[in-house]
Amino acid sequence: MDRKPIKKAVFPVAGLGTRFLPATKAIPKELLPIVDRPLIQYAVDEAREAGIEQMIFVTGRGKTSIVEHFDIAYELEATMKARGKDLSVLDSTRFTPGDIITVRQQVPLGLGHAIWCARAIVGDEPFAIMLPDELMIGEPGCMKQMVEAYGEVGGNLISVLEVPREEVSSYGVIDPGSENGALTEVRGLVEKPPVAEAPSTKILSGRYILQPEVMRTLESQGKGAGGEIQLTDAMARMIGTQPFHAVTFAGRRFDCGSKLGFVEATLALALEREDMAEDVRAMALRLLG
Ligand code: G1P
Repeated sequence: MDRKPIKKAVFPVAGLGTRFLPATKAIPKELLPIVDRPLIQYAVDEAREAGIEQMIFVTGRGKTSIVEHFDIAYELEATMKARGKDLSVLDSTRFTPGDIITVRQQVPLGLGHAIWCARAIVGDEPFAIMLPDELMIGEPGCMKQMVEAYGEVGGNLISVLEVPREEVSSYGVIDPGSENGALTEVRGLVEKPPVAEAPSTKILSGRYILQPEVMRTLESQGKGAGGEIQLTDAMARMIGTQPFHAVTFAGRRFDCGSKLGFVEATLALALEREDMAEDVRAMALRLLG
């Protein structure tokens, strides 16, 4: 079956980043680096690897530097060139003009509301959503695995992973149906359920491929968990009207929305970098000893 390709991704980046204060008082949390790449860059690179061309940032006040990051820094480049420096470190920050798009979420009403703010840009096409807090490392990357699954089953897809039961209340949780390899049928979805009421331990891990109808569903979505307009609730209402599957990501995930996850990601990725692995290992052993 012919499916419309996924060419657009929405990145909700309007959050205040209160868990990382004071670091995030003047710097968007999405620009905090894991080694030498900001978090947002990992997510954008993952989208590009999956064939996505247009990046839609749902931003807010104080978040303009995210857009600067993907602009051409003329003075920087001219100075580096004059000094004979290698400019290829900037390659992944370059974009075809017009492919970085921003919309503003003026008030923090929740993830569902943030996505709805991008409705005019998304238009009538299936699209991806990427939460940059969730750092997904794999080969191929998480979004590419999802796009491949989309080619097989179409409809709506969410990435999921297993967490210990006591952690489910921090996430969206699926009610799983039949399984077929990495694909699980989704029978229900609930946002941040109490542990005793969670239908499984499979949580939504911040990557989605959704049909444009979700925008219409969000239009009439009331407040849910935490008094916010939840994307999970809108998706739950679409189950039964359209195919809905979960993809279990074959790879590693770091929850960079938490300090512990952030430090873990920094160490793990530094330990894998050819240019620094040996020194980082020696340093870590020294610190532990
Ligand atoms: C959001 C989603 C939740 C998902 C989580 C992944 O929650 O609402 O379903 O499991 O991201 O990180 P938030 O972290 O914004 O509270």
